[in-house]
Amino acid sequence: MKHTSNILIAPSMLASDLSELELEAKKLDKYGADWLHMDVMDGHFVPNISFGAPVIKSLSDKVDAYLDCHMMVSNPEQWVEQIYDAGGDNFTFHIEPLMYRPEYRFPENNPQSSTQSLIDKIRSYEMDVGIALSPKTDPKIIEEYIPLIDTVLVMTVEPGFSGQKLIPECLDKIPYLRDKFPEVNIQVDGGLNKDHAKTAIENGANIIVAGSHIFNSENMNKTIRELRHS
Ligand code: DX5
Ligand code: ZN
Repeated sequence: MKHTSNILIAPSMLASDLSELELEAKKLDKYGADWLHMDVMDGHFVPNISFGAPVIKSLSDKVDAYLDCHMMVSNPEQWVEQIYDAGGDNFTFHIEPLMYRPEYRFPENNPQSSTQSLIDKIRSYEMDVGIALSPKTDPKIIEEYIPLIDTVLVMTVEPGFSGQKLIPECLDKIPYLRDKFPEVNIQVDGGLNKDHAKTAIENGANIIVAGSHIFNSENMNKTIRELRHS
């Protein structure tokens, strides 16, 4: 899914009432949410465990929504097939667990990088592809892969928990990326309210993830509209 000039709103289901996932998803659909952002955590790449393919499968059986899977896991290759089978539409993996693999230290022994193989694998399952950058990760590290993917996810909090405070410096990555890659989707995720969303959109982002800001609001419908038009 290449860049659209429309702003897409992707509520993070981690902040929803997980015992009522179907109901929450249907409400969001009614309020005009574009994607449902599914935060998968393995308790290893991040110090938290959320949910995985079985929960995504239960949801995709009940609702017809674009399921945007943000994979906060150490070994993303392992989950591609399961996420596809569960009904995932997009598979966004973090670059950080791949960066520390030996092939990056000994590229001469590994002509095909595992980032490339992973992108190919996700494509072979016909899912959209995203790469996520944690706050301290320099976007230059993924530049060679950006023409091959659909979305760059710029994290504005350390991955692992919803309800954290946004780290403003992370927003500086957006104009840099937008300038070099006019075609790619730029998604922002973590601690966003409508003011941050406005800054992110002005800087060139086109997909806004928001968890607690939406689910803690009195009027989710209005909050989604405000985020979109911020
Ligand atoms: C953090 C997740 C985010 C988070 C968003 O690890 O990737 O998607 O749940 O929630 P808020 O908007 O509350 O930070
Ligand atoms: Zn996320």
